[in-house]
Amino acid sequence: MMNPLIDLRSDTVTRPTPAMLEMMFQAPVGDDVYEEDPTVRALENEAAARFGLEAGLFCPSGTMTNQIAIKAHTEPLSEVICEQTSHIYLWEVGGIAFHSGASVALLAGERGRVTAAQVEAAIRPVNVHYPTTSLISLENTHNRGGGSCYALPELEAIAEVAQRHQIPLHLDGARIFNALVATGQPATEYGRLFDTISVCLSKGLGAPVGSVLLGSKAFIQKTKRIRKVMGGGMRQAGYLAAAGLYALENNVDRLADDHRRARQLGKKLAQQPYVAEVLPVETNLVIFRLKPEMPAEKFLAQLEEQGIKASSFGPQMIRFVTHLDVTDEMIARVESAMQQLSS
Ligand SMILES: Cc1ncc(COP(=O)(O)O)c(C=O)c1O
Repeated sequence: MMNPLIDLRSDTVTRPTPAMLEMMFQAPVGDDVYEEDPTVRALENEAAARFGLEAGLFCPSGTMTNQIAIKAHTEPLSEVICEQTSHIYLWEVGGIAFHSGASVALLAGERGRVTAAQVEAAIRPVNVHYPTTSLISLENTHNRGGGSCYALPELEAIAEVAQRHQIPLHLDGARIFNALVATGQPATEYGRLFDTISVCLSKGLGAPVGSVLLGSKAFIQKTKRIRKVMGGGMRQAGYLAAAGLYALENNVDRLADDHRRARQLGKKLAQQPYVAEVLPVETNLVIFRLKPEMPAEKFLAQLEEQGIKASSFGPQMIRFVTHLDVTDEMIARVESAMQQLSS
């Protein structure tokens, strides 16, 4: 029998398990635009409760939850402070300009993490020439930073700056559960520090679709119209929300296995003669740089010949991602493939 394909491109490639599908089939549903879908309501409440926030808004994607939050927090002629490699800036199609008419103040972080001092220095003084700073947005774990996590004191310091200047603080928590599992931080600390949090269900948690935006009741009420104008009002969405509920119940603790497998890959990569550098592995993302003698296209093509897919992540940079559909046996296959590669 052929070996199964090993897809390390992203944790978004997972397929629902039979148990998750069963829960989706069984879900009671209604029209969620009429706010009559009990499963969507259950997911929104469950996700909000975990973080100690009041309410949630179920959306098709993390791009939508982020962009809705940014739109609701800002106004045209204002500015969002974020890190220069953050997903909201780099990979959401310039949506901050398109949806919100807002500008961005980009900070140079350390593997995506910024400091309170950097944030404070970027806050605009009142001046007719400047946009007003309307939002500070962080990302945890940080994708481009190789799945890096913030320490709580760093977040507390940034939240203190945000509160002192009365600027809302948003978290792109596409992989927040990876951060929570890796650091042991309680989710409720995040609800205390952030005004809004975007949580993705279709990455490490393994649901086929969906993200939830969390915040205060009043804020989430405001976001419903923005979701509607973006075309994100869904009808019997409970079938999808059920997958999210299943994921929250069953797929959080197991993220530790993904992290262990990612660390194993990182260690092995660091021993290969064609690898120049591996970013520290903190969660399920492994980003590394190839030496010039091993062109990235050649590296990816040789892996692909062995049934292994990975992502190009900038010049000579590659990303491996571990997830629900990557087993220990697959990691062993990747390790043996890595050793056979020739430049
Ligand atoms: C950090 C981060 N934020 C947001 C998103 C957007 O999520 P989606 O693909 O569901 O739009 C991603 C997607 O990979 C991501 O990595």
